[in-house]
Amino acid sequence: MAFTVIMFLVGTATTAGLLRLGHYLNHMGGHKKLEVECDIFHGRWEYDHADPHPLYSPRTCPFIPNQFDCQSNGRPDQDYIKYRWKPYSCTLPPFNGKRLLQRFEGKRIMFVGDSVGYNQWLSLVCMLHSAVPKARYLLETKGGLSTLTFQAHNVSVMFSRNDFLVDIVDDKNERILKLDSIGNGGQLWKDVDVLVFNTWNEGLQTGKKQSWDVIEEGNARHKDIDRLAAFEKALTTWAKWVNSNVDPKKTNILFQFQGVSPDHTNSRDWADTNAKNCKRQTRPVAGHNYPGGRHRGEAILDKVLGTISKSVRLLNVTALSQLRKDGHPSSYGSSKGAVDCTHWCLPGVPDTWNELLSATLLRY
Ligand SMILES: *[C@@H]1O[C@H](CO)[C@@H](O)[C@H](O)[C@H]1NC(C)=O
Ligand SMILES: *[C@@H]1O[C@H](CO)[C@@H](O)[C@H](O)[C@H]1NC(C)=O
Repeated sequence: MAFTVIMFLVGTATTAGLLRLGHYLNHMGGHKKLEVECDIFHGRWEYDHADPHPLYSPRTCPFIPNQFDCQSNGRPDQDYIKYRWKPYSCTLPPFNGKRLLQRFEGKRIMFVGDSVGYNQWLSLVCMLHSAVPKARYLLETKGGLSTLTFQAHNVSVMFSRNDFLVDIVDDKNERILKLDSIGNGGQLWKDVDVLVFNTWNEGLQTGKKQSWDVIEEGNARHKDIDRLAAFEKALTTWAKWVNSNVDPKKTNILFQFQGVSPDHTNSRDWADTNAKNCKRQTRPVAGHNYPGGRHRGEAILDKVLGTISKSVRLLNVTALSQLRKDGHPSSYGSSKGAVDCTHWCLPGVPDTWNELLSATLLRY
């Protein structure tokens, strides 16, 4: 599970998830310009034979790691890349990578988060690369920071690995997760033009996969605490950071916090007694109601976002991703024998998140 939200820091409050897509609506057969607010996250998945998607493939995009390269790892079905997201009340503008690069010329776009954020960053760099396949680019990786710069446009698309948004500090062979502190990361985020946050994916990891040893909050130390409670605390620390460090007058700064990226490790969530997990799933859940209901983290997210005084926009991809039990690497990820029902194949579902992000950023 992971979280990603959008926050527009442009001085005016915007309703979460609503976009002005007026010029894309037909009115009474004519093309009258109608300024109608459209919730682009409310819609359905549609199988599309004719669509030119995907925008890239493992052959054309040099950045897809083995972990997400389901096709090269032998995934036999391809329907999962042919489903398009269709909002009910407007048409999503087609992704226009050139336009995005022009709009953000000389700017930096940074994803901050866990491995699902990495998944989304890779998707966006592939989408942009496919828009300007001959353009020179520079890829730099330093510590937990990866930067891909499209040199002609001087646009940098960055990924900063930070699983919980708050600090993890190495101290005498002990990794301390500090729920009430944002230090190092905060320096890195300042002055970035577009910030896209996500977290939570690693929140439920235990044993060897857990990336910390001790939880600290003020003077209190815990070997472990309820993970949802920890998530709420970390997110609250992050919200305070936003409240006191972000300058709403500096337009063009835009925060996004992705909604919860669901996993599909238990087929009971979509009321399927024949399956066990996401393995061999080749189509989305039908309709638009997920039998498993709302993700537990979403209510926390709504609550914490409500405490942020800057205007906030949520990339509300939880519900639409819940339907995509077919989008995961399952046994076509990197480790043999493992079934990955948490991350997403590329090309695949994260491309839709980025289409929605782009539509939001460009404010069609
Ligand atoms: C996110 O989308 C779901 C499904 O359309 C909706 O129920 C929920 O209220 C949305 N959340 C926000 C904060 O807009
Ligand atoms: C490229 O953009 C960065 C900000 O992202 C800026 O500091 C730098 O001066 C720009 N370089 C050129 C050559 O315009």
